[in-house]
Amino acid sequence: MSFDINALTRPNIRNLVPYSSARDEFKGEAAIYLDANENSLGSPLTKWYNRYPDPLQLAVKEKISGIKGISSDHIFLGNGSDEAIDILFRAFCEPGMDNVIVCPPTYGMYEVSARINNVQVKKISLTPAFQLDMEAMEEAIDINTKIIWLCSPNNPTGNSLDRTDIEVILNNFEGLVVIDEAYINFSRQRSFIPDLTEYPNLVVLQTLSKAWGLAALRIGMAFASTDIINVMNRIKPPYNIGQSAQELALQALDNVEEVNDMIRILVEERGKLAIALEKLDIVEKVYPSDANFLLVKTMEASGLYNYLAGRGTVVRNRSNVTLCEDCLRITVGTPRENGILVKQLEEFIMP
Ligand SMILES: Cc1ncc(COP(=O)(O)O)c(C=O)c1O
Repeated sequence: MSFDINALTRPNIRNLVPYSSARDEFKGEAAIYLDANENSLGSPLTKWYNRYPDPLQLAVKEKISGIKGISSDHIFLGNGSDEAIDILFRAFCEPGMDNVIVCPPTYGMYEVSARINNVQVKKISLTPAFQLDMEAMEEAIDINTKIIWLCSPNNPTGNSLDRTDIEVILNNFEGLVVIDEAYINFSRQRSFIPDLTEYPNLVVLQTLSKAWGLAALRIGMAFASTDIINVMNRIKPPYNIGQSAQELALQALDNVEEVNDMIRILVEERGKLAIALEKLDIVEKVYPSDANFLLVKTMEASGLYNYLAGRGTVVRNRSNVTLCEDCLRITVGTPRENGILVKQLEEFIMP
């Protein structure tokens, strides 16, 4: 397989002279900063929030580097992984010409982002076992196929994709393979981050929004070759992660143990919740999950959804999604919340 990042990058991006911000042009310490049109008097807050933040978030990346075991120049940080998804489209897919492969049922933003960028989406459904349909994918790939989007563990099905299938794709596809590992911390599967040394066409997405419990900060991570990361940095908005988010992330990243404790509790609760749900008459099947949610096939998803919402419990109705007829996606809650949910479901009377 030959992989050429330059050939893959859109010509307008390859030739782009990126915006050079004040903080790009002057690094280091100065006594007086009169270079960025900030408010020199200060801010209404106690801290120096009048100053622009580090455009490349180097301190945060250093911490992430230590946790993930990969150097900072292989890390891109986005305003949520949603920003990384959008930037990958803008860097590598020519609107109105290129296409990508998405495997539904999966996370909806790959398709939405493609449509925003006017990039054709080739949808290759997962098999009924929620695994990749390798033959159909091979048939769908053409010379304009630039990215294959894989989500493992997958949202909304909760399962991990077969590693050997992913490896076959990585070894044979000449475009980018993006593996979205938003839920990897809840699974026993090994991340693909260590495999970056082997695959120049691999991008791994992770996020602080799930296991790290920091959805409000909006920090998503992309791990890839320095070539890919450099392209992403060239086109991102100059200050895409705010100072307060960077500071809070730095604090949070010191608390790996606390996060690991939460993961242990959520995984345990996931097991208990699955057993309790399986006992209910209205539940046909609880799919195995490597994530912090369960996909639950029911007798009557819309009725159940409305019934629960009427009692103040909101779940996600995935009924109209490929292969998910009559399915609800239920996030694992606190032990108390899970208890209330199960009790409410026990009290449901079929119409
Ligand atoms: C698979 C997957 N990827 C990415 C995201 C978005 O993550 P972020 O909050 O980092 O934008 C989600 C959110 O639900 C998700 O399910």
